[in-house]
Amino acid sequence: MKTKITKLFNIEHPIIQGGMHFVAFAELAAAVSNAGGLGIITGLTQKTPADLANEISRCQKLTDKPFGVNLTFLPTVNAPDYPGYISAIIDGGVKIVETAGRNPQEYMPSLKKAGIKVIHKCTSVRHALKAEQIGCDAVSVDGFECGGHPGEDDIPNMILLPRASEELKIPFVASGGMADGRSLVAALSFGADGINMGTRFIATKEAPVHDNVKKAIVSATELDTRLIMRPLKNTERVINNPAVERLLEKEQRLGNNIKFEDIIEEVAGVYPKIMMEGTMDAGAWSCGMVAGLIHDIPSCDELIQRIIAEAESIIQRRLSGFLNN
Ligand SMILES: Cc1cc2nc3c(=O)[nH]c(=O)nc-3n(C[C@H](O)[C@H](O)[C@H](O)COP(=O)(O)O)c2cc1C
Repeated sequence: MKTKITKLFNIEHPIIQGGMHFVAFAELAAAVSNAGGLGIITGLTQKTPADLANEISRCQKLTDKPFGVNLTFLPTVNAPDYPGYISAIIDGGVKIVETAGRNPQEYMPSLKKAGIKVIHKCTSVRHALKAEQIGCDAVSVDGFECGGHPGEDDIPNMILLPRASEELKIPFVASGGMADGRSLVAALSFGADGINMGTRFIATKEAPVHDNVKKAIVSATELDTRLIMRPLKNTERVINNPAVERLLEKEQRLGNNIKFEDIIEEVAGVYPKIMMEGTMDAGAWSCGMVAGLIHDIPSCDELIQRIIAEAESIIQRRLSGFLNN
């Protein structure tokens, strides 16, 4: 399947694996890229720029296909060493960066000078237009369904994607709630040139996380996610568990007076315990509503082949069938 996204990133299939904290290591990114999609390493999971340089080099040993690095610009006071991470990306010869969080304008000149293609993750049309204006090559449009940070507008992809298509000139991928060939065809019909998936790629053989995480996603239904940190305007969609219930109870009790320090136990530093050790109730972890559509743990290659075959069959049989009877 050829789209503007496959051409832009020189990949076979219009399927991207979004950056995921403590999930998107070299093993997963390489498996996705080897399967013809675009794998992405999460920059900030690596403690230092030197660690990221090492992770990039590990990925290059695992694949000769294009892969990218995610750089998430966090709303923190003590910013990570972003220039250092960008140097590691440039020196490592990576040609694709997925930015997320704050507007990446400040870093665009150095990324562009190095010939890097930038895809910015946005949760609204206005942010997508801003990304286009500052020179991003593409955007990933994340609807309200998505795992992780859906923003504060609460617009689901059924509306957000066609709205993005009405306004944008640069290509975009649909992100949030994408799982299978049906998602891909729907995304294409809304004007997207591909899909980005997070949660679906965690439940794959190659995702280097504890089996408990994969099992939790397969067991979850579309009813099992919750929105946390809304009073802090840092909304995150996570899977429900006792830590999340405790956190939500604090939000209810403290209302708008809640501070990050009040929920630190449930959110800070919990990812290694959950993703690596499989201690599922250690805290809140991102997961999309799409968990309701995830019923197995295939390899990345099986998953991507299946999505493409299903999408082709929907287009060629089901959809064209409506016109030919
Ligand atoms: C466990 C997990 C961790 C994530 N970490 C990040 C991150 O560090 N940076 C980022 O830009 N997006 C992050 N995301 C968002 C994904 O890249 C992607 O945009 C999102 O999962 C898409 O929604 P879906 O889960 O419905 O496919 C994370 C998502 C999950 C599920």
